[in-house]
Amino acid sequence: MSDKMKERLPGDSVPYEDDDIHVIHSQLLREKDEPSEGFSPVPMLLLFLFGGLVFWSGVYLANYGGEFKWDVYDPEWKPGMTAAVAEKPPLMVTGERLFKNNCQACHQANGAGVPGAFPPLAGSSWVVGDEARIVKILLRGLSGPIEVEGNSYNGNMPSYGENGAGWNDYQIASVATYVRASWDNGAPEVSEEAVAAIRADTAGKSGAWSGEEILGAHPL
Ligand code: HEC
Repeated sequence: MSDKMKERLPGDSVPYEDDDIHVIHSQLLREKDEPSEGFSPVPMLLLFLFGGLVFWSGVYLANYGGEFKWDVYDPEWKPGMTAAVAEKPPLMVTGERLFKNNCQACHQANGAGVPGAFPPLAGSSWVVGDEARIVKILLRGLSGPIEVEGNSYNGNMPSYGENGAGWNDYQIASVATYVRASWDNGAPEVSEEAVAAIRADTAGKSGAWSGEEILGAHPL
């Protein structure tokens, strides 16, 4: 210890010198562990616990993840319902759900559409009679000028088939059946087989239909 340090009294303004600092540090170091290199390993128990958790999550996702398909969620599902889920619900049940989630925003819940923007499905002669009209429109979309029940529209109807949402025959048949049977439309159901046939027939089609193409092949 330097002499100056011994002389230091509380309140003194004499600055510390290098020697003093060394002395103080050596005192401090004596009281503490030397720093050591390396790391302390994660406890084995935690390692197994997290490993197990990750494994369990993987199994859970594989079982309940619905293969990460966006449309697989079934709000009616209850534990133990596996067999019932494998069986397809009636076309009208699935059709109503699909309509609410996909079509209603434009064509409205009551099927009346929006004047000037979205044509009506309720009372539309396009959706009743020949089922090929609605099925083709759903499979590929529709764009350009059309006339529905005396009113003109010129918009874009999205595709729910190949060049769109990629719905299967059952989904297309469901929503077509729902639209044709609702709001006093009173048209018979559309079968999956009918959708499959129209899909095969129009496999070479690219882009959306025009109103002329649809009505040319299937007049009102
Ligand atoms: C983004 C808005 C939008 C969505 C969503 C939509 N449509 Fe359309 N739909 C239109 C437009 C716009 C037209 C008219 C297209 C045109 O002017 O060529 C149309 C036309 C139609 C037609 C033929 C005209 C008529 O009124 O009968 C049918 C049938 C139809 N849509 C059914 C559906 C069904 C079923 C769904 C759901 C699966 C659906 N649409 C979803 C906008 C939409």
